[in-house]
Amino acid sequence: MTLSPGHPLMDGRTADSPLITAYRGGKPSRRPVWFMRQAGRSLPEYRRLRQGTGMLESCLKPEMAAEITLQPVRRHDVDAGIFFSDIVIPLKLAGVGVDIVPGVGPVLEHPIRTAADVAALPVLTEEALEPIREAVRLVVAELGSTPLVGFAGAPFTLAAYMVEGKPSRDHLGPRTMMHADPQAWQALANWAADASGMFLRAQLEAGASAGQLFDSWAGSLGLADYSRYVAPASARALEHVRPLGAPLIHFGTGTSELLVAMRDVGVDVVGVDYRLPLDEANRRLGGSVPLQGNIDPALLSAPWEVLEAHVLAVIAAGAEAPGHVLNLGHGVPPETDPAVLTRVVELIHSIEP
Ligand code: CP3
Repeated sequence: MTLSPGHPLMDGRTADSPLITAYRGGKPSRRPVWFMRQAGRSLPEYRRLRQGTGMLESCLKPEMAAEITLQPVRRHDVDAGIFFSDIVIPLKLAGVGVDIVPGVGPVLEHPIRTAADVAALPVLTEEALEPIREAVRLVVAELGSTPLVGFAGAPFTLAAYMVEGKPSRDHLGPRTMMHADPQAWQALANWAADASGMFLRAQLEAGASAGQLFDSWAGSLGLADYSRYVAPASARALEHVRPLGAPLIHFGTGTSELLVAMRDVGVDVVGVDYRLPLDEANRRLGGSVPLQGNIDPALLSAPWEVLEAHVLAVIAAGAEAPGHVLNLGHGVPPETDPAVLTRVVELIHSIEP
């Protein structure tokens, strides 16, 4: 399994870009920055384009998904596009009844609660992923030397939605299941790992230059449960893509106690949320990997002087790590003034790497 010779990482387009250089521990020509959820509701051009089209429907229209991915790159001069899609798209493409309800999030028609529910899950096919590949090809043709970051949901975060059937705060359903019926849990986590792994591989093979695994809700787990019931499935998801050789990033929120275990599932870069300063994250990781993060999204609405001082502090805290890609400590809040994001990018690019 290898990337084709015409892939942006192989034909010279993105291999020496600031983002990929930093992900690989080298010295970038400028400080790379992109934002989780940079595509989406903070942009008026997104809201206009999405009018009358459902969220999942928009992800499955290749021209629309490509255009939405490109919007923030044009506007902010960020160092990466993040593919516009959603972690539940592989479920949808497999034929699972799922929708994204505005203001709520992913909702399943039939939550997955028992071993029989897991056994009845449909299997995702390579063919079903064609709209994803097509959207990635359209994006990459426009991006030139700017890398596209592909992504997938980690098995725990995906399974959390599948078991609860909707967003939840404490994720009691999946946490009960892993102890009460470990076999059913493992089967579900493996199903989610394969669906996410195939989804990410489709993006990388079609032209994405890096891949990020989002375990947004892993922070609801202690280290013991994470290591025993979750990490093996996340490693399984990454086995679908590791041989391709593109840099892999692992991110979650509330994961300060899990950073080492998250690195050890086999990634090149660890994403840090806004709770833990990067110098402390680097200490916990023993200086072993480049870091990504961790501007507090709350400060995007603070006065500029406050935000500027915070961004400079994040840069200083990341200085000791073997590489640092600026990002937020979670996604862009929908009410963010996009002009502030552009200004943050300008500030970051103005500081010598
Ligand atoms: O710019 C980007 O980051 C690209 C695209 C992206 C989306 N979802 C688009 C989206 C990515 C990387 C995701 C991943 C995702 N989806 C995660 C992991 C990252 C994270 O934020 O923790 C999770 C947990 C989901 C599940 C999900 N999808 C939620 C919780 C929501 C929000 C629901 C709401 O309306 O508040 C979604 C919907 C969603 N995914 C939107 C976008 C732009 C909003 C939909 C809209 O515009 O109406």
